[in-house]
Amino acid sequence: MIIRKQPDLRYSDVSPKEVYLNRRRFLAASASAVAAGALARPALANTKLDFVKGQPQFIATDKVSDVRAIEGYNNFYEFGTGKDEPSRYAPRWKVPSPWQVRIDGPGAGKPQTIDLDAIMKVAPLEERIYRMRCVEAWSVVVPWIGYSLSNLIKRAEPNSKFKYVAFQSYYDSKAMLSPREAGIAFPYVEGLRQDEAMHPLTLLTVGVFGETLPNQNGAPLRIVVPWKYGFKSIKSLAKISLVENMPPTTWNIANAREYGFYSNVNPEVDHPRWSQATEERLGELSRRKTLKFNGYGDQVASMYAFMDLRKNY
Ligand code: MTE
Repeated sequence: MIIRKQPDLRYSDVSPKEVYLNRRRFLAASASAVAAGALARPALANTKLDFVKGQPQFIATDKVSDVRAIEGYNNFYEFGTGKDEPSRYAPRWKVPSPWQVRIDGPGAGKPQTIDLDAIMKVAPLEERIYRMRCVEAWSVVVPWIGYSLSNLIKRAEPNSKFKYVAFQSYYDSKAMLSPREAGIAFPYVEGLRQDEAMHPLTLLTVGVFGETLPNQNGAPLRIVVPWKYGFKSIKSLAKISLVENMPPTTWNIANAREYGFYSNVNPEVDHPRWSQATEERLGELSRRKTLKFNGYGDQVASMYAFMDLRKNY
């Protein structure tokens, strides 16, 4: 199911406050399209956030996607395998409070458990507009709010044993699908190499469209890695382990031939079942060419200079 209506609101043209207000009207206006079954109604996110604008290198100039594409067309297998299911079922989930994140592992000199409230204060929240490219060959442009993950990792005083980071999502078998129903193992796990995790683009994300994250987008806290396929951007983050060896990752466990650890966006390496050369930008009629590293090559390509990206897919 794909959205084909152009949004009438250009996010980059207006200030966050206007966006916040217009978004409400926009959601109301889109109700008829939603009722017609075009898309599940996005859940209303809750709290407004205080944030500053990110540096220019973090602001894609592409048009921000329709809120219905960002909050109504999702992958979040804990709440369903269809694109409309997370926005239908995740809002019913009561996000545990206080939300706690465990930071541990042999690479953490100062392992700790930290509350979301404290996490929010580790660094100033910034709005960053990122292109997001899903492995399924669709893309969106999203006004995320957060700060570079490196800020939080530094709080754990990383040592020389920090070679990789292993992420783990929250999992509650009573509120979420079973692994058998979803077809993947839970809790969802992901990972990054040390330099990838510390790269300024890697965003610890707490909001979107000026507000806290809707459940279907990974409330209350997720990772966003814009130069990699979307599945690296793990949702509802509960644990961050600084480890010595490359950690297991959910989609690699499910199908190693199709999903590698690195998963850098790469139009030159096809998925075994489809081409990665082009993508559908949700809300646009024509397909566009996929850019290597999702267009972030200037910022990230040097991390892979000596790697064969066909082998390390
Ligand atoms: N994180 C968890 N815990 N569970 C998931 O199923 N899906 C991934 C990623 N993070 C997923 C997850 C995939 S496949 C994608 S494309 C992105 O989340 C989608 O993020 P979005 O819905 O905010 O666009």
